[in-house]
Amino acid sequence: MPKITFIEHDGTERTVEADAGRSVMQAATDHLVPGILADCGGNCACATCHVYVDGSWRARLPPPSNEEREMIDCALHVQENSRLSCQIPVTAELDGLVIRLPESQT
Ligand code: FES
Repeated sequence: MPKITFIEHDGTERTVEADAGRSVMQAATDHLVPGILADCGGNCACATCHVYVDGSWRARLPPPSNEEREMIDCALHVQENSRLSCQIPVTAELDGLVIRLPESQT
């Protein structure tokens, strides 16, 4: 199972085992990672699953859709590496993925 590390804004780290085929958002909510509310249930309609993708991992993810880009624009504290975690599918290749949470999601 791929492992994903979530780092909260205060530096708290949680590494979880994620099921391939689910989304990074679902991996977080499955393990009660705080800060990922996922109000819309993964439908790219709320931006409460906003995360930052660490370093070189960005290039290894499928690019965001136009719909995801538009919804990211609605989030707070947007950065170049902002993504919506509900739009990132978990795959075996993502083992070791590091995700950081924005200050607005504590
Ligand atoms: S869960 Fe709502 S946009 Fe991701």
